[in-house]
Amino acid sequence: MLSGVRNYGRKTSLTFIGNFHNLNAMKESEIRPFIRSKIFGKKIFCFDLIDSTNLKAKQFLQEGVDEGTVVIADEQTAGRGRLNRSWISEGKKNLTFSIIVRSAISPEKIGVISIYAGLSVMETLKHFSELQPDCKWPNDVYLKGKKVCGILSEAVFENNRLTGIVIGIGLNVNQINFPDEIKDKATSLSVALGKDQNRFEIFGRILNRLENNYESIKSGGLKYLLEEFENNSSMFNKEVKINQNGKILHGIARRLDDDGGLIIKTTNSEIKVIAGDVTVCY
Ligand code: BTN
Repeated sequence: MLSGVRNYGRKTSLTFIGNFHNLNAMKESEIRPFIRSKIFGKKIFCFDLIDSTNLKAKQFLQEGVDEGTVVIADEQTAGRGRLNRSWISEGKKNLTFSIIVRSAISPEKIGVISIYAGLSVMETLKHFSELQPDCKWPNDVYLKGKKVCGILSEAVFENNRLTGIVIGIGLNVNQINFPDEIKDKATSLSVALGKDQNRFEIFGRILNRLENNYESIKSGGLKYLLEEFENNSSMFNKEVKINQNGKILHGIARRLDDDGGLIIKTTNSEIKVIAGDVTVCY
């Protein structure tokens, strides 16, 4: 199956996806028993190997699939991270998947989706009483100072109208050895807990959390979710450095704004940051 380059009305395009992937080759039957959510995961496209689940999900979104459709892969050849970085994840060990959402979010609240997704993963990890997951703005989850989960949310526009959002989640579950470039910064559940975990059970729990929290957003509970993020993040009221493509900002992380932006206090004023990489200065 070949899918061509698509124009999403923004400077977003799909690269060619070759026919190396085999729809439903990664067994859905292994996953389905763990799914309790009703909308999220109702339809799941499973791949052994794909370039990026986000790219595939954006294509499906454009083709009109239902809200809550999930694309999951055992391995990605071109996993994508925030700020044009790549996402490195060992095949068959971890979770790499993308969910399509269509409603609940107005264009000016797109930033909130990242916060909500990171919070949902963090809450899922709290299921393990031994873990103390820590949210880092905008949407990373850390364990003991090392990153265990990264999220890339991508909005898809058509004719200047928001068609939907793809939430791509990479969670390190059973990977023990990390390549040199990330080995000091990355961890996994298995490293933190000392034994392998059932990644599909965790996947089912994440979908459930995402669905419940999405319902909360739709019924006006956004403020509560933002507060939950702040309460489960060690970066607030600390001095932070924010790298915005080489431009560095310094300040004290104060709170989240209603649209998911980060308010920091600099020497002269309070400013809102909408993108960047945060480092806490200890
Ligand atoms: C980051 O921390 O920079 C975000 C990483 C997001 C990785 C996930 S893995 C599943 C989905 N598909 C992708 O290509 N990226 C996201």
